[in-house]
This record gives sequence, C-alpha cells and structure tokens, in this order.
Amino acid sequence: MTHVLITGANRGIGLELARAYANEGAQVFAFCRNPAGADQLNALASSANGRVTVAAMDVGDGTSIATGKKVVGDAPIDILINNAGVLGGHPQTLDSIDFDAWMDALKIMTIGPFRVVQTFLPNLKAASEPKVMTVTSQLAASTWPFGTTYAYSSAKAGVNKVMQTLALDLKGDGIAVSMIHPGWVKTDMGGPGADITPQESAAGIKAVIAGLSLAHTGKFYKWNGDIHPW
Ligand SMILES: NC(=O)c1ccc[n+]([C@@H]2O[C@H](COP(=O)([O-])OP(=O)(O)OC[C@H]3O[C@@H](n4cnc5c(N)ncnc54)[C@H](OP(=O)(O)O)[C@@H]3O)[C@@H](O)[C@H]2O)c1
Repeated sequence: MTHVLITGANRGIGLELARAYANEGAQVFAFCRNPAGADQLNALASSANGRVTVAAMDVGDGTSIATGKKVVGDAPIDILINNAGVLGGHPQTLDSIDFDAWMDALKIMTIGPFRVVQTFLPNLKAASEPKVMTVTSQLAASTWPFGTTYAYSSAKAGVNKVMQTLALDLKGDGIAVSMIHPGWVKTDMGGPGADITPQESAAGIKAVIAGLSLAHTGKFYKWNGDIHPW
C-alpha cells in the first residue's frame, strides 16, 4: 500500500490531494494546523475506512513537526507532499510590507519543507521508491516576473533552491525530489477568478508525482506535466 504524507491538508489543493490519494486506496497522513476545525478533512477521514489519519502539524514550528513524526512512527512514506503555504501578508509593496509576515512566509514555505523532509527522512528511506514533491509557484521563477509579491516570491524561490539541493543530496538514497507550480487555482489563496479547480490541480500534481523518478529529480514542473522554465 502507498503511504502518502501531505501538509496543509485541511483545505484547498492539500485537501483535494488527500481525497485523490484516499480514493485510490492509499494510506494518507493528512497534516494540518488545527485538526479539530478541519471539518472537510475529518469528513473525508470518516468515510475512508481508516485510510486517512488526520493529525496536527504547523510546518513553521520544529516542535510541531517532531510531534507529527510520532504519529507516523516508523511507517514508510512513499510520497511526501509539502503543500502548506501562506501569502505572507498583504500588501507586499515597497512602501508597505509586514516583516513579521515575511518571516513567517520563509519559516512556513522555505525552511518548513526542509524540516519536514529532514524529520521524515527515515520514513522516506524505508519506502521502495520514495518521492518528495513540493508545491511552489511560478512566482518562484525568474522567467515569470511579477511585481510586489516580495515575501511570497522570495519564499517560493528559496524553497525551489532548497529542493534542488535536496535532490542532489538525496539521489544516492534513491529519493526523487521535485517542485511543482499547481496552476492558478480556485482556493482561498488563488481566489474565485483563478483558472482551474483544486480537483484539477490535485489530479495534475498526482499524475506528475506518478511519473517522477530519479531520472527527473530536481526538476521544476507545471501541474500539467510540462517543465517550468526557471
Ligand atoms: N491557489 C493558487 O493559485 C496557488 C498558486 C501557486 C501556488 N500555490 C501554492 O499551493 C499550495 C496550496 O495552496 P492553496 O491554494 O490550496 O491555498 P489555501 O487554500 O490558502 O490553503 C493553504 C493551506 O496551507 C495551510 N497552512 C498555512 N500555514 C501553515 C502552517 N504554518 N502549517 C501547516 N499548514 C499551514 C493552511 O492551513 P490553515 O487552514 O490552518 O491556514 C491550508 O491548509 C501553497 O503552497 C500555495 O503557495 C497556490
């Protein structure tokens, strides 16, 4: 059975990833900041015959990540998806920026995914073909210039580099590591005017992960499977 770990699984793309993998019969560790308030995720878990474990993890907090590790124990993790994200404050302009929110963005989206991989490394090593996918953004790419999003873009650009470095360092352990732009998605973050639904995005991300191997480690994808120019 495939074991999948997802962060930020209570809403948006993370919730739909959890649903898609559970529907396929995978064992899903669905982490979120506040399990008690995660109504849609808890409803999914109730209907999934024990295949979805809902547990707490704030990826901006090392202690919380370590507590999440106790929930997983020694189970192998075949697929680890770093999905949790924040905008990092609003507005993010030259004359008006919230530095605390920027620091939080870096903690949650740049350092957090590294810590999650570091913490669950024994679980990844215990899987036969382990894969790490980090949901980043086209705003991470120098080929996609976009004004004002200093906090968000720097955190996503940072995590792309972190994941590229991990891809090199973990290749010898047989762990494939990649990054993906999920599309412009109709979630709380993307807004109702976005291009695609969270279900479409999750299906695309899942298909890219299915095709991922050590031959593709370190690559930056789009949700439709194309390589994202970086
Ligand atoms: N939507 C888009 O168009 C778009 C485009 C490019 C990239 N992305 C990326 O896609 C990923 C998913 O975004 P989304 O659109 O699904 O956004 P969303 O609906 O706003 O969901 C964000 C998720 O991240 C969680 N989260 C935030 N801070 C966290 C923390 N410290 N620890 C654990 N979980 C935390 C949220 O949990 P709470 O409910 O507790 O806040 C929520 O589950 C993010 O990495 C985002 O940057 C989205």
